[in-house]
Amino acid sequence: QKDVFILSIESSCDDTAAAVLHNDKVLSNVVANQSIHNEYGGVVPELASRAHQQNIVPVIDTALKRANIDRKQLSAIAFTQGPGLMGSLLVGSSFAKSLALALDVPLIAINHMQAHILAHFIDEQGFDKPEFPFLALTISGGHTQIVKVNSFFDMEIIGETTDDAVGEAFDKSAKILGLPYPGGPLVDKYAQIGNPKAFSFTKPKVPGLDFSFSGLKTAILYFIQNNKAANPNFIEENRDDICASIQHTIIEILMDKMKLAVEQTGIKQVAIGGGVSANSGIRKAMKDAETDLGWKTFIPKFEYTTDNAGMIGIAGYYKFLDGDFEDASVVSKARIEF
Ligand code: KG4
Ligand code: ZN
Repeated sequence: QKDVFILSIESSCDDTAAAVLHNDKVLSNVVANQSIHNEYGGVVPELASRAHQQNIVPVIDTALKRANIDRKQLSAIAFTQGPGLMGSLLVGSSFAKSLALALDVPLIAINHMQAHILAHFIDEQGFDKPEFPFLALTISGGHTQIVKVNSFFDMEIIGETTDDAVGEAFDKSAKILGLPYPGGPLVDKYAQIGNPKAFSFTKPKVPGLDFSFSGLKTAILYFIQNNKAANPNFIEENRDDICASIQHTIIEILMDKMKLAVEQTGIKQVAIGGGVSANSGIRKAMKDAETDLGWKTFIPKFEYTTDNAGMIGIAGYYKFLDGDFEDASVVSKARIEF
């Protein structure tokens, strides 16, 4: 089949997203963010499922309209099977099943974390695609993994966090500083005008390629409490420097492990993916690694960093080529390995 049109649906957490792809090109990529969670300081699963139910039809309609595609032209429906919040996943999968049944087209189930990596195979001007095998650092609100990617769907996790994910480290640090949820992008914003060497935090000692971020969070909490005891305006007076120093520490932790992974595997092609790959500091560190360390690095286009359906669509396209389809009995999985 020469012209494959895939409608993809992503609903694993708090973003309702749909995209339409023509082969490996994204024709439309629509995301509805759920601001409802901001006042609670985190994602409330019950509210997330409800918002998905409200948003899913308009989001899919918009994706089809923007792509200028009629649903009768679709070759397949791809959806996020997991990992994620069960109530959120069920909205996307039920919708995908019904639509595939109604249109009599194949149904394709996608692993969200694999999709964050496969986003690098979307055909975009100015963006190179990695060659197999390559290493991927997937950093999001729920995951922190170093993955050896052997082929599109043959991936091995060679390192991961033993406690908090990087995104949580950003969001929890932000919370300690009194910033609203999700604080990651705000820490990034203030870090850009602060001094990364102003304060230093001890980095965790974790063997091998694994990570730990809970100790860093506690260190930041005590650091703030102690300084505030001496100066109640400590945060206000040092906000940018604190953010820059926290971000600098987190990036050092990530880069140290990636250097070790490159050393151990001998693979020098390194890609990043997931919400935290939107961070300006990690993007710069990865870019610098090309000149400083001789790596070839892959930094996703901004719109494919945080949760989106474009990445589900590209993963769906390669499964379509493999004829890897599901029947209507396929179930959502809150937890899923590769
Ligand atoms: O991949 P994602 O959209 O959702 C999950 O699958 O978890 O990642 C969301 C995470 C949040 O923790 C958010 O604070 C973080 O990505 N994030 C950032 C930035 N943009 C999003 N963290 C640091 N700097 C950013 N610019
Ligand atoms: Zn994600």
